[in-house]
Amino acid sequence: MRCAVFASGNGSNFQALLDRKSSGDLPHADFVLMVGNNSKAGAFERARSNGIATLHIAPSHFLTEEAYAERLSSALKDAGVELIALAGYMKKLPPAIVAQYRNRILNIHPGLLPAFGGQGMYGSNVHKAVIEYGAKFSGVTVHFVDDEYDHGPVIKQKVVPVLDNDDAQSLAARVLEAEHECYWQAIEAVAAGRIKIEGRRVTFLKS
Ligand code: GRF
Repeated sequence: MRCAVFASGNGSNFQALLDRKSSGDLPHADFVLMVGNNSKAGAFERARSNGIATLHIAPSHFLTEEAYAERLSSALKDAGVELIALAGYMKKLPPAIVAQYRNRILNIHPGLLPAFGGQGMYGSNVHKAVIEYGAKFSGVTVHFVDDEYDHGPVIKQKVVPVLDNDDAQSLAARVLEAEHECYWQAIEAVAAGRIKIEGRRVTFLKS
């Protein structure tokens, strides 16, 4: 499947996907486009140095959400994008795009949903909340995107411990490592058609 990666920041998840692609672990996904709202995002440089087309687009560039959605939709269509992977993307996708790519948009969240998710729960906010709550485990959730923040069906989760001396930074580093181990597996399974979706339940089929 032709895949677009949306990223707003450093893009370490994007890099991990590119590395897995190079080592042959992602035969069913081709990364053809990187989309970002922040032109300074490190993800742009990672795309360029891997010869991947980029699109800098933000809702603020448009007068209406409809105009933004139309431009984004036509760019995705022009690039033949079939699958979208959000990798640290800080903007909500327009409902028209979510509808167009139903069960074809994945997101990675640095926590175990449905806990510590929803609007405002991103980056270090998640890790601080986990530590303040006193949770003993955190982790990663890869899920399909629907119209609500951090809500679509869960594809894959990976648990990491919260240690007594953790701060948001040390927990973030442990979770990020798990993210890098997790995301490519979910993307490859979806791209290969190796999953079954029944209601909210996503199961992996044997290859
Ligand atoms: C990751 O923690 C991801 O779970 C979240 O945003 C962060 C992006 O990190 N959605 P990076 O830009 O991939 O390094």
